[in-house]
Amino acid sequence: MSHTTSERRCALVTGATQGIGLAIAERLAAAGHDLVLHGIEPDEAGATIAARVAAAAGVRAAYVRADLADAEAAAGLVTRASAALRSPDVLVNNAGIQHTSPIESFPIDRWHAIVAINLSAAFFTMRAAVPAMRSRGFGRIVNIASVHGLVASVNKAAYLAAKHGVVGLSKGVALETAAQGITVNCICPGWTDTPIIAPQIEARAAQFGGDRAAGIRELLREKQPNLTLLPPARIGDVAVFLASDAAAGITGIALPVDGGWTAQ
Ligand SMILES: NC(=O)c1ccc[n+]([C@@H]2O[C@H](COP(=O)([O-])OP(=O)(O)OC[C@H]3O[C@@H](n4cnc5c(N)ncnc54)[C@H](O)[C@@H]3O)[C@@H](O)[C@H]2O)c1
Repeated sequence: MSHTTSERRCALVTGATQGIGLAIAERLAAAGHDLVLHGIEPDEAGATIAARVAAAAGVRAAYVRADLADAEAAAGLVTRASAALRSPDVLVNNAGIQHTSPIESFPIDRWHAIVAINLSAAFFTMRAAVPAMRSRGFGRIVNIASVHGLVASVNKAAYLAAKHGVVGLSKGVALETAAQGITVNCICPGWTDTPIIAPQIEARAAQFGGDRAAGIRELLREKQPNLTLLPPARIGDVAVFLASDAAAGITGIALPVDGGWTAQ
């Protein structure tokens, strides 16, 4: 698809230098969006990734570094992204971390970090992005929740609280903005092939003498009926759809992309 600079929509994607966020950025770029990639890498490394994404799709891209565990940094991200390129028409809250532990030994600092990065950062960025979206009469917000925003698993107290929180937060903002051409939706991925699940794969592999493939098979057998780790690009494709004009009538949903996990 070829667009002139003035026609292109601008998308801000958090956590966009690897994993699902990078795949979303690449897919949005391929669909003709200019991009602000957010990450925690040093400026030079981030700018290199942004330049690669831009060159592959023939769009413009910028990089903004911010630690979203820091409320002030999260609150300032949209303003900095707007200065780096322009005000985002599309906002994708993707950055997230995980920690697994039984509740009684769950580290308190992990609770605070997970809630800050996975939940509060989405509140801050939406709070900052919505006014300009309202005045343009167009906005697309896609929040990457999880199957764990819909159902539970053991040893994920903070992640469950944050992801269920993102789903509720998104529904509320969807209602507040529905009459102004803005949609707010969640994607709820199942097991997806990215670094965030590496510790869980290693823990399972250890039960099979370190056999990684056996560990993955066991994780999938337990929860994900398609028995396949999702490629990050499959989440990217769904984000592009939700950001498109075709999805104008869809707001306030939490869409599982989970190989059947939540059908059970
Ligand atoms: N991979 C899966 O199976 C899966 C399943 C469901 C949901 N998700 C969600 O998808 C999203 C992306 O995760 P992923 O699977 O690509 O994992 P990932 O670890 O590859 O990506 C996480 C991203 O978050 C960013 N991040 C981490 N700490 C940060 C901080 N302090 N400040 C700002 N950014 C920070 C990282 O830079 C990275 O880009 C997360 O919200 C995750 O919870 C992943």
